[in-house]
Amino acid sequence: VLKNLAAFPVGVAVSAGDERRSLFRKTDQQALINQQFNSLVATNIMKMRYLHPAEDVFAFDDADALANYAKEHGMILHGHALVWHPDYQVPAWMKNYNGDWDAMLTNHVGQIARHFSGRVASWDVANEVIDENVPAAYRPSLFYQKMGKSYIEKAFIAAHAADPAADLYYNDFNTESVQSKLDFMLGMIDDFKARQIPIHGIGFQMHVDVDYPSIAQIRKSFREVADRGLKVRISELDVAVNKHKNLKSLTPAVAIAQKARYKEIVTAYLEEVPAAQRGGITVWGLVDGETWLSGFHKRAEWPLLFRDDYTTKPAFDGVVEAL
Ligand code: XIL
Repeated sequence: VLKNLAAFPVGVAVSAGDERRSLFRKTDQQALINQQFNSLVATNIMKMRYLHPAEDVFAFDDADALANYAKEHGMILHGHALVWHPDYQVPAWMKNYNGDWDAMLTNHVGQIARHFSGRVASWDVANEVIDENVPAAYRPSLFYQKMGKSYIEKAFIAAHAADPAADLYYNDFNTESVQSKLDFMLGMIDDFKARQIPIHGIGFQMHVDVDYPSIAQIRKSFREVADRGLKVRISELDVAVNKHKNLKSLTPAVAIAQKARYKEIVTAYLEEVPAAQRGGITVWGLVDGETWLSGFHKRAEWPLLFRDDYTTKPAFDGVVEAL
């Protein structure tokens, strides 16, 4: 059982809205989740456009149900994400907002963080604000266009004011693979620390491939953040195997390579991040058949720890061996 082997939170991302894959419709999934994990994150329902559909309307029901579920089952809840730029994630009203952006964003972050205070252990305050095109730079998102880079620190300040007990994370992808992006993020951390902007940790999404990036680069990335005294989460772990192949099913050989990959990643986390700085590891989905990667990459993928029949894959054994 993963949660009993790990001395840090072990989480899984779940669907929990009024959707086909909702955890609340699947008692068999609930049993497995309750057995193995002690941390939850919503794949979608705690993103901006779900929680804040109109300027004066917050829609907390689905997320409240998930928070209740977590509490009833002795799990912590990680909030994802207060500020995230994709066009389809930003509420329509916000795209057309013509008022005071500072006040509006502070209100958005503050209302949500206050609503969940005491029920959310940690937040991804800002997600994917760095554009990795070389040289790395702040992503020219709507928020950046309206507020410059200040939107990022203002979100952290507002979240901290609303919920001083929550750990506040900056979350991104490819920071474990693209050195220039990692460097840019480290510069942002150093600047925040120098100016006492409240930030407690970094989430490495880690949507990685079975053979990329190198484990040396992953270790270096964890270490550079840990050396700055911040917590480290592996926030959205999955291990794609079918980028260069054209597999129709997960072959035994590939499943074994994936096991080794999961094992080396968890080992790297344990060896590079001191115990007190381990915010935990979360896998981005429960069973292979529900991975977001198949839709995202438009190819078959089997990146997770469990098969669709809820049996454990070699990948699961790899995590167990590392723990
Ligand atoms: C994904 C969800 O899993 C999908 O269901 C949704 O359609 C798109 O978003 N980085 C993130 C997550 O921070 O929020 C994304 O989740 C995956 C990439």
